[in-house]
This record gives sequence, structure tokens and C-alpha cells, in this order.
Amino acid sequence: MELAALHRAHVEKLARETAAALEKTGFSAVVIHSGTLLKRTEADDQYWPLRPTPHFQHWLPLPEPGCFLVIAPGRKPALHRSPEQSFWEAPAPLESEHFWGSFDVAVGKPSLPPGRVAFVGDDLRAAGGLEANPPSLVSALDQLRVTKTPYEIECLAEANRRGARGHEELRKLFKGGDKAELELHLAFLGATRQDDAETPYKNIVALGRHAATLHHIAYEKRAQPAGSLLLDAGACFAGYCSDITRTWVKGGGALASAYGQLVAGLESTQQRLCASVRVGMPYEELHDQSHRLAAGVLREVGISRSSVDELVSRGITRAFYPHGLGHSLGLQCHDVGCALRPPRKDNPFLRNTTVIAEGQVFTIEPGIYFIDALLEPLRDSADVDWKLVDGLAAFGGVRIEDDVVVKADGIRNLTREVLPQGGGVA
Ligand code: GLY
Ligand code: MN
Ligand code: MN
Repeated sequence: MELAALHRAHVEKLARETAAALEKTGFSAVVIHSGTLLKRTEADDQYWPLRPTPHFQHWLPLPEPGCFLVIAPGRKPALHRSPEQSFWEAPAPLESEHFWGSFDVAVGKPSLPPGRVAFVGDDLRAAGGLEANPPSLVSALDQLRVTKTPYEIECLAEANRRGARGHEELRKLFKGGDKAELELHLAFLGATRQDDAETPYKNIVALGRHAATLHHIAYEKRAQPAGSLLLDAGACFAGYCSDITRTWVKGGGALASAYGQLVAGLESTQQRLCASVRVGMPYEELHDQSHRLAAGVLREVGISRSSVDELVSRGITRAFYPHGLGHSLGLQCHDVGCALRPPRKDNPFLRNTTVIAEGQVFTIEPGIYFIDALLEPLRDSADVDWKLVDGLAAFGGVRIEDDVVVKADGIRNLTREVLPQGGGVA
């Protein structure tokens, strides 16, 4: 089905579900604001490019400040664009016009529907006296983003196709010789046709030991010899994000070979986790499984000889793999609605505590890293090969991350469709 038809069906479903959310929370209508340009500093007259309010983007990919979307059950959604035209700057040209047919479009402030009307948006100055961001309604709207429509899945698939071009380009550049992280970052933007502010999150480009910083975005500007590249970077389409990590190795020697084994072990771990996804399974159970598999990798590479049970129960895997297995993905890289209950205390950074359901889209991103501050308290353990750990620290760590859609009988892996290998020898 073409994008316009998919979008039409998406808006119809969203309209039905929003009407139910309004009724449940006692509102007659909602006005959703697209956002306002934010100043870079109060003292200056420069503004950041707009990141539209995600609740607005749930309806349409229009990155234009000052728009009001009026959703009143039984009426066609009405889009009111701002009459103000700046002669200093203009919004970015639209990539696709597939969405216009679902809205009545006007210029100027909307006249409000009768009853109790809520305002949803980041800029409270635009609320005009309406009840702004009522938690019950916002949380009901967040729940509408937990499972994705076929339109959203197509946008996420396109975001993956775009991101894959950048990943493939950087694998080749890394393989071809010493590079600076900044140069790789700029090459990723070029290959994905994105400006820095348009990426779903700041590209994480880490050569060698920098991969031990989970979100390494302070790029080294000089070319460096490095045996590893961890690239965590994605692309956007129509507001929807991809979030992809690949880890590559190059060069010879015993340590590069042990690190290659670590990457291969994590690659098969990641694929086993993808194959384990089942409707009805708590995501936290998958996260727990990832710790047992990570323990197996630590043993295979020779980092520890302790049993899997010991490595998990003594918190050793948590020192090597401190983050959550993954998170919901959509209009936000870390999407909303999937952490209604907090994770167990020993999984403090897990962002997805849902029971897995058909139509959810989330990442699966196990990792193993050599992070001094986390390993330091374990230094007394005789069952860790510290000489090997200290040698492998020059490679920083490994993460492999795919974006998957839950189907009735397993998953569709949006990332592997376009980027079959999770990492390995570049
Ligand atoms: N790119 C950030 C994350 O993987 O969560
Ligand atoms: Mn992620
Ligand atoms: Mn990521």
C-alpha cells in the first residue's frame, strides 16, 4: 500500500483511539501544539532547529513551529498553521506530502470546540488558558504509541534503510585506513543525507577505547590508529527514528583476535535474543536472558572462568554490561509508554518493562564494555583474567543493536533486512 493510504488508515485509527482516551479522561477535545523554536541561549538571538512535539508528529510529519492541531471526536482533524512568516528563516522543505489529505487546513488560531478542552505541547505559553498536559490524558495518549500501525512500521523501515547507508559507508571507511571520529561522523551525515540536528540522536562514533563511553559524542578530530569502531547512529523518516549499532574490528594480533571473538559472541547472543522474542513474554525476562548469554560470552573469550550463575548473581555481568537490553522505538529514540512499572532494582537502566505485544517496536542491543569505573570494584576477583581485560580495554567495548517489530509468531527485524551483519571483521 502506498504511504498516503497507510497514513490515512493510521489517522483513522488514531482518531478513534484518541476519542476513547478523551472520553476516559473526561475531556471533549484536545489541541496539540507543534512546538516553538528554542533559543540557544537567552543572551543570543539564535534558535535551535525545531524538534516538533512528538504527540503532534504522531498525526503528521510537519516540522513547522506554531501549529495547532484540534482533535474533536466526530470532526475531521483541523490543522491551524501560524500566519507569522519569518524573513530570516524558513522551515525545512517537506520530504513527503503524503499526509495533507487527512486534515482540514487553515491559517490562524483555532476557535475552540465546546466543553473541556485540553492542551498538549511543550510550549505552555501557547496553551491560552487551556488545561495544559493533564497527566491522565498525556499518559493515555502515550499508550497509543506503544504499538505501531502499518504506516508507522513503514516509516521505521525507511528510517532503517537510510541508517543502513551510513553504517555501510562507515564500515568501508574504517576498513580503508585511520580516520578521525569527526570525519566518520560527517561521512555518516553525508551518506544518510541528514544535517546533524535532523538525526534521531547525536551519532555515537567511538574508535578504540572510546567505545567504553556508552554515548561517546565528543569526537576526536585527529585521525587515530584504532582496532575497533563502535557506531551507534540512525536516521529519521517522517519523524520516526532508527537506532542502530554496529561494532567492527580490524588488524591482527592476539588481542584483536580475542576482541573479534568477543564481537562474534555478542553477535550470536544478539541473534539468539531476537529469536527468543514471543508475544506475552515480559521484556525484562529477555533482558535477564541477555545477562546469562553475556556471561557465556565472557567465559568463551576467557575473561572469566566462573559459572554463568555466579557471573550473573555476583553482578559481574552488570559491570561489563551496565545498560538495559533495549527500549521502545518510534517518534522518539527512547519512545514513551513502555515503562509504566519500574524495572527490578538490579536492572536500574532498563527502559522497557512491558509484556511483549504484537505491533510493538523495540531495540535489542546487548553490549560488553571495559569501563574502568565499573570494573575497579571487581579488581580483587581472582576469577577474572585482568591481563586480558586490560588488553581488550584498548578496543573499548562492543554493542550490537537492531530495531524489531513484534509479530504474532516472532519478529520482523527492520535492521537486518538492510544490514545483515551486526559486526565482526570490517
Ligand atoms: N542510541 C541510544 C540508544 O541506543 O539507546
Ligand atoms: Mn537504543
Ligand atoms: Mn543506539
